[in-house]
Amino acid sequence: MTDHGDTEDADVPSRAERRAEAIDVLDANRRDGYTIPSSTLYPFQWNWDSAFIAIGLAGVDPDAAKVEVETLLSATWPNGMLPQIVFWADAEGYFPGPAEWDAGFDDVETSGISQPPVVATAARHVYEVTGDDDFRDRVLDPLDDHLSWWRRERSADGVVYTRHPWETGMDDSPAWRGPLERFDPGPVEYERADRKSAELADQRPTDWDYDRYVALLQQGRAVGWDESALRDCCPFRVEDVLTNSIYVRACEDLAALYASAGDDAAAATWRDQAAATRAVMRDRLWSDELGLFVSYDRVADEPLLERTVAGLVPVLGGVPTTAQFERLSETLTTEFFDLAYAVPTYVGDDFDPDRYWRGPVWMNTNWLLERGLRRYDATDAADRVRADSLALLDREGFREYFNPRSGEGRGSDDFAWSAALYLEWTTV
Ligand code: SER
Repeated sequence: MTDHGDTEDADVPSRAERRAEAIDVLDANRRDGYTIPSSTLYPFQWNWDSAFIAIGLAGVDPDAAKVEVETLLSATWPNGMLPQIVFWADAEGYFPGPAEWDAGFDDVETSGISQPPVVATAARHVYEVTGDDDFRDRVLDPLDDHLSWWRRERSADGVVYTRHPWETGMDDSPAWRGPLERFDPGPVEYERADRKSAELADQRPTDWDYDRYVALLQQGRAVGWDESALRDCCPFRVEDVLTNSIYVRACEDLAALYASAGDDAAAATWRDQAAATRAVMRDRLWSDELGLFVSYDRVADEPLLERTVAGLVPVLGGVPTTAQFERLSETLTTEFFDLAYAVPTYVGDDFDPDRYWRGPVWMNTNWLLERGLRRYDATDAADRVRADSLALLDREGFREYFNPRSGEGRGSDDFAWSAALYLEWTTV
C-alpha cells in the first residue's frame, strides 16, 4: 500500500468531521426530491449521479435515499429509457439545456440519452439497508422497464451499445477518439457554458470533442429521438465496457430484488440475461493484447484498444474468467497502481493527469472497481483503491476528480457523489 503520509497532516479534518461535511454537501445540493451533482457545473438531476448519491445516503438518511431513487425512476420515458439528465426545475448557466435537447414526455423535460444503469444497484443497496418491502415492490416495475429497454433497444446479442460519449459517463475518454474521428460534425453553432474558470478551461473536454457531442445531440433531436432511426443513422455506436459491466450487475441486482419478492421466474430471467451478457463480454470485449477489457466500435466493427479504468470494472459483474482475472490483476498492478494515487481513469499516450476522463482519479469508478475486486477476493488491491480514495477525499475534500500524481483536487467543489461515496466507504 502507498503511504501518502496524509493522516499526519494537522490540517486534515478527522473522519467524523469529514463525514459531517459530506452530509452538509448533500444537504446543500438537495432539491425537491433529488440531489444535484454540483451547483456550479451540474444544476439538475443526473442519472448515475443520483444512483451513487442514493448509495451514500442509504446509511445516513434512508428516506432521502429512497426518494432519490424513486424521483429518478419517475422520469423513465414511456418506452423505458431512463434519461441522463432530468430538468425538474429551471437553472441558469448550463448548456445544453432542455431547449437544445427538446426531449422527454408529458411535462417532464430531459436529455435524449441514457447513462449506465447504476440505479438498479442503488435500489438493491437501499432495499438491503432499509428492508423496506414497499420500496422494493414500487421500484421493481420501473427497473424492469428500464433494463428491458436496454435489452430491446440497444442490444443484438446481449451486449448493449451507447450512442453518445455522454451516455457512457466517461465523456472524453481517449477510447472515443477513433469513433469520433470517423464522422464529420459539420458546422455546429453553440456556446459552451462549462468553462467557468481558466483552470476548468484546461481540464474540460476540448472544442474538438464538444463539436462532436453537439452534432450527435442535434442528429438525435432531428429524428425526434426515435431509437430505431438512430440505430441506423447514429455515427457513434459503441459497446462501452463500463456500461456493460454496470448492466450485468444491474441485471443481477434486479434478479435479487425479484427473488426477495418471491418472483422466481422473473429472477431467473434477469440472472440468465446477466449470464448471456457476461459470455459475449468475455469473448468480444476482452483484449489479450492489453490484458484487460475494452470497448467495441459497432460502426467500424473493431475493438477500441485503449487502457482505461472501464476495462477493469467487469469484475463488478463477475465477468472475467479465472484466467482473464489473473491477467487483469497483473495489468491493474503494473499499469494502474504505479502513480501515487489509484486509480487513474486512463493510462497511455494521451494521459493527462488533470483533464476530465483522460487520467484523473474519479470516486465512482474507484467505488465500482473496489466492489468488483472484493467479489474476486482481491483484498489487497481493493484495500489500496479504498485507502487511496479516502486519502484523496480526506486531504482535498469533495472535489469532482483528482490528479493521480499530486493528489490535488480538480473540477467542481462540493461534488455530491464524492461526498456520498465517502459516507458509504466510512460507514461502520
Ligand atoms: N458530463 C457532461 C457535462 O459535462 C454531460 O452530462 O455536462
